[in-house]
Amino acid sequence: MIGNRVPRRKTLPGAGPLGRQCRTEMEKGVMERYREHLPLTDKTPIFTLGEGDTPLVESRVIAQMVGCGGLYFKLEGCNPTGSFKDRGMVVAVAKAIEAGGTSIACASTGNTSASAAAYGAYCGLPTTILVPKGNVASGKLAQAIAYGARLVVIDGNFDSALEMVRALTDKHPVVLVNSVNPDRLQGQKTAAFEIIEDLGDTPDYLFIPVGNAGNITAYWMGFTEAATSGLASSRPRMMGFQAEGAAPIVRGKRVDAPETVASAIRVGNPANWQPAVRARDESGGTIDMVSDDEIMDAYTLLARKEGVFCEPSSAASVAGLIKAAKDGLDLESATVVCIITGTGLKDPDSARRLDDVSMEEHPPELAALERALELA
Ligand code: F0G
Repeated sequence: MIGNRVPRRKTLPGAGPLGRQCRTEMEKGVMERYREHLPLTDKTPIFTLGEGDTPLVESRVIAQMVGCGGLYFKLEGCNPTGSFKDRGMVVAVAKAIEAGGTSIACASTGNTSASAAAYGAYCGLPTTILVPKGNVASGKLAQAIAYGARLVVIDGNFDSALEMVRALTDKHPVVLVNSVNPDRLQGQKTAAFEIIEDLGDTPDYLFIPVGNAGNITAYWMGFTEAATSGLASSRPRMMGFQAEGAAPIVRGKRVDAPETVASAIRVGNPANWQPAVRARDESGGTIDMVSDDEIMDAYTLLARKEGVFCEPSSAASVAGLIKAAKDGLDLESATVVCIITGTGLKDPDSARRLDDVSMEEHPPELAALERALELA
């Protein structure tokens, strides 16, 4: 066992270092639960907004479609700010405080900024976020505003915003909390531990969207550590997917004007490019790309056939799985996990743009409703 996981909802005896009793692993948070696997010291403040311990949900329809023996979705949208970023952010912010930091900053396609803003607010740290103009989903902007971050809109793309915030934090005493901060990846690797705990061992394949390439790097680190310490018998093949219009790793060169409906992974020059390539190669996996149509088909399928409402970028993992199966990947006896990185509520406009939605208006009379529903 990695993170002293106990059956959910069991009351834990005694108060932990959080200073109170925790009923669930989620209440413990990532730092308390995986303390021994994280770079924490006696001086690291331990706190949580309830990140981690996200559900692994078994697929019913897509598993059959792709002929997969066991397909699971890891619902990272169930984290406190609605994306996987919280796992890493809690560690990065704690380490920033430990080091005497008094403010944090990041560039973001939206989710990192929402997470930084939340943990910054919880810890009383002023938070500055740089986002690309016109390409951040409305729910994510709403979060940044609600959490009270200083929101700077850059008339450029994510890559230029990241360059700027790196220069800013190099020059001034502000802690950078993008995934170039190693503490972020340390926290994010805990999702790999949870998957191993839930399945009893490592899956055969892990399908995951790739943007700035921090998450695929973090999962590989987690799976590698678990295998090295004997907690898992092997490591999965890492199957990363970029969007066709923002696929620098697949094309082998940076993309100056990345374009995709999946705004969270609209990244042309990933900061963790090399570690992601290493994860791909060491695992015998792939980093491939999927079209916007494939992403939106997977997005719709997930919502309508599996009850999983995610943001378009998250659906890139499932779009990748469908594509790999079409290309002949035999998954019959394989255990596969797709990472669903963020909730669909982040990006309501993408749902509204689905063109087959029927919305009708009727007077507030039962008879009219019955006629419309062809029940009368
Ligand atoms: N899925 C979602 C929902 C994301 O927000 C991101 C990245 C990714 C996948 C890709 O993860 O960058 O580690 O390869 N979002 C970053 C952000 C870029 O600023 O929120 P990655």
